[in-house]
Amino acid sequence: MYIQHLIAIVVGLLAIVALPEARADAVADAQAGYQAQGAGPFDAQAGARRWTENHTEAGTGKQISCASCHRQDLRQPGQHVRTLKPIEPMSPAVNPQRLTDVKKIEKWFLRNCKGTWGRECTAQEKGDFLVYIQSQ
Ligand code: HEC
Repeated sequence: MYIQHLIAIVVGLLAIVALPEARADAVADAQAGYQAQGAGPFDAQAGARRWTENHTEAGTGKQISCASCHRQDLRQPGQHVRTLKPIEPMSPAVNPQRLTDVKKIEKWFLRNCKGTWGRECTAQEKGDFLVYIQSQ
């Protein structure tokens, strides 16, 4: 009995210790991919600047930026500009689900960069966004 409890406690502790690492890994993995494409070092300030950079949206002619849906303060919940659906905060400090899955990150970078800027983001831009988002 005693040994089993001990094992359960150790396994529980390991899971807690391993969690933040797994989170850091998704960002590290994505960045390794960008670096393989020649990007880096990554700059949080450049990411911050681009976050609020306005672009003219193709269909509507309206000004749009990443902050239009995700807000300038990443700790606040956002709202989709067209569907008006709520969007969970982008800051991983407030929302631990953020930046935990490379596939999800890449899927939304592709969609949102095209939707917001009318083109894909470069590896450098994506890396800058990740360090910026992570710092918030
Ligand atoms: C028209 C609204 C809209 C705009 C503008 C927008 N996004 Fe998003 N974004 C979303 C939605 C919707 C999701 C998916 C739902 C969710 O994750 O909450 C999302 C998810 C993401 C994610 C996934 C993060 C994760 O790990 O959960 C990233 C990264 C992201 N957006 C970055 C950006 C960047 C960078 C820009 C600007 C180039 C941008 N978004 C502009 C609506 C938007």
